[in-house]
Amino acid sequence: MAIKGVTIVDHPLVQHKLTLMRKKDTSIKSFRELLKEIGGLVCYEVTRDLPLEDVEIETPMQAMRAPQLAGKKMVFAPILRSGMGMLDGMLELAPAARVAHIGLYRDPATLECVEYYFKAPADLAERQVVVIDPMLATGNTAIAAVDRLKEAGAKSIRMACLLASPEGISKFQGHHPGVRIWTAAVDERLNDHGYILPGLGDAGDRMYGTR
Ligand code: URA
Repeated sequence: MAIKGVTIVDHPLVQHKLTLMRKKDTSIKSFRELLKEIGGLVCYEVTRDLPLEDVEIETPMQAMRAPQLAGKKMVFAPILRSGMGMLDGMLELAPAARVAHIGLYRDPATLECVEYYFKAPADLAERQVVVIDPMLATGNTAIAAVDRLKEAGAKSIRMACLLASPEGISKFQGHHPGVRIWTAAVDERLNDHGYILPGLGDAGDRMYGTR
């Protein structure tokens, strides 16, 4: 079912890799590699409509006009920890992008988020910001990250995810209706602890083996 403002990255390679990530016996190493690979593939779709301009170049054969990226430069804004898992895959496609790190954790009792780190380029207002949050679960972390980026001047923001819950999408869009979301899948629902079902468990723990 299509959800307004949400693009499902339904490419077969992404879907196959996501299924491997969901399996509980997938190793930490494979999980990290797959998350990085999906990061690149999601980035490909998030950047699909970036504007181009024709410029004069010379090939070894003759002069021509050829397209190059125009418009805003990019900032990737991973939410720590798990956002880091998609970052390198995205930077491989867009190596000139800057990075804004956002440290937020969910208080396990209240599920509200607490900021512990924020470092972003000064010219956020002139850049296209792509927030990276693999698991859009309750939506609280993504909402807080976008609040913080807007406070720091960001005007043009997109969300790159791996998995989202219907509850998280609806809460996020209630707070930030202008921020479009890209995700590989929208799962069934959240459980009472704010985890996505069927999901893939805790992405940070599975990346770093901390459980
Ligand atoms: N964060 C995760 O890593 N997994 C979930 O299911 C929800 C939030």
